[in-house]
Amino acid sequence: MYVCICNDVKEKQIKAAIASGVDTLDGLKNTLDVATCCGCCEPMVNDYLDEHHTMMADTALIEQLAYAV
Ligand code: FES
Repeated sequence: MYVCICNDVKEKQIKAAIASGVDTLDGLKNTLDVATCCGCCEPMVNDYLDEHHTMMADTALIEQLAYAV
């Protein structure tokens, strides 16, 4: 699915970049050129980033709880 029509960037590319450690909007802009033209895709890119950061926080919390037991 296309996320950024202006720069021909698909959801799969964004998620792969985030998974590889590019987990900021500026990083994604620099790496993929996403959200660097009209900006219409920026909210969706931020949603992917929020989803990733929430998952990372949940994982960290689960690891802390596992050590506490
Ligand atoms: S749709 Fe991404 S910058 Fe325009």
